[in-house]
Amino acid sequence: MTYDKAPIFESLLIHLNKAPVSFHVPGHKMENMLDARANEFFKEIRQVDMTELPGLDDLHAPNGAIKKAQELAAKCFGAEETYFLVGGSTAGNLAAVTAICDRGDILIVQRNVHKSIIHGLMLAGAKVIFLPPMIDPETGLATGVMSDHVKEALKKYPQAKALILCNPNYYGMGIELERIANEVHTHDIPLIVDEAHGAHYGFHPDIPASALRSGADLVIQSTHKMLTALTMGAMLHVQGRLIDRKLLAQRLSMLQSSSPSYPILASLDLARRDIHTNGYHLLSEGLKAVEHFTDLMDEVEGFQIIAGKWSASTAYQTKDRFKVLVKDGTGTLTGYRILEELSSLGCFAEMADPIHVLLVFSLASKKQEAEKLAAAFRQISDNFALNKKELKLCITNTYRIEAVPVLFSPISFDLSLVGFTKDHVITVPLHLAVNCRSAEMIIPYPPGIPVLYPGETISQDMMKYLQKLANMGAKFQGAQDQALAQISVLK
Ligand SMILES: Cc1ncc(COP(=O)(O)O)c(C=O)c1O
Repeated sequence: MTYDKAPIFESLLIHLNKAPVSFHVPGHKMENMLDARANEFFKEIRQVDMTELPGLDDLHAPNGAIKKAQELAAKCFGAEETYFLVGGSTAGNLAAVTAICDRGDILIVQRNVHKSIIHGLMLAGAKVIFLPPMIDPETGLATGVMSDHVKEALKKYPQAKALILCNPNYYGMGIELERIANEVHTHDIPLIVDEAHGAHYGFHPDIPASALRSGADLVIQSTHKMLTALTMGAMLHVQGRLIDRKLLAQRLSMLQSSSPSYPILASLDLARRDIHTNGYHLLSEGLKAVEHFTDLMDEVEGFQIIAGKWSASTAYQTKDRFKVLVKDGTGTLTGYRILEELSSLGCFAEMADPIHVLLVFSLASKKQEAEKLAAAFRQISDNFALNKKELKLCITNTYRIEAVPVLFSPISFDLSLVGFTKDHVITVPLHLAVNCRSAEMIIPYPPGIPVLYPGETISQDMMKYLQKLANMGAKFQGAQDQALAQISVLK
């Protein structure tokens, strides 16, 4: 099998060479859109927007080009089997959770996971032991779990069906997984890792090791996020004997479209080929752009880069250098304001929080773009006269965030709780909500970890934790009362 092949893309080109006349879906017939400008704009992509024709294989029963492309991907990423996803990591997370447990089974899950894991738990009707993430003292951000908590949970719940982690977090902060994988395997259950932000992991000495290489059994990656696939292109990788692959394939075919997008599938194939044949070089070039940006920022007054260059910290052991976190060290501009100012100068950041703005580079980033970004920061620094202001020593963790309480009791997830109506809900002062089941999802910011899910019982410890955060002035995303003097609970 040659790594520089791209079987899906090549099969589409072979099909095009037949000068095909379409009597099949899609309705645009590869040629026509009614709007002339749109017609011109989408011309190329429509040529490969195909359906399951002879020679083009079938994602849900692959035995041709898609099978070959998935086999190449498995080789490339170090899996035994790889499944292409056209619904993002979201589809992979839903399929993974629903394939590893039955209704009422217990899973051990990192609390700050993506909502698609939570939705998977709801679909599965699982019971969950949540492990609290560590809080990074420098930024106040939630990172990964502690291995001691994993050990304790596994000991207390030997019947657990799997451990589910999200690694790295959105900011590129992660933990080393090898020890945790070994620990989980001594209990003969799988380690599932949502590695949505780490599709490029393991391909360069300056980038952390991948979850698969660290021993995870099932790994989900958004190939569109940190590699070059089209948006919604993602992969699910499996190794070992602990995952029922037949059931997994069945769940994927339940949860993914029966008309998967060939442009997305071909882009997954091509993204794999890029990293497979030229990964080290491409990542090195991208990292040069990051380095160029951080060097230029040394000259820009006011702004500080947090761990833009690798640094060890107590709450994370690995850091993705492509994720650059910047704050205004003078405390003049919030992260949101920096993002807004950058946008007005034509530079669009990934996201912001009250303090930081997150800039995502990749293997496709160029030095010229780094220069444009640094110039935008320079302009903002001048506009707000940041050079005339004092740098504050520590404005980040002003809230002195405490860790979320460890709650080693199972929480049941039930889809029927999602759509409950006003008739089932009552609003009460927070201190009266102990032992009630929350009717809302509560995400205090900082640190941005969901601490209550709909249906979860509010313990005394949790109520006190929420009160403490409210007193410190934290805001509660998703809550009807953002100050959380009151909370909605199930009657
Ligand atoms: C940790 C994590 N997992 C999963 C997802 C879902 O990924 P996708 O957008 O590919 O569906 C995201 C999206 O941001 C995410 O941050």
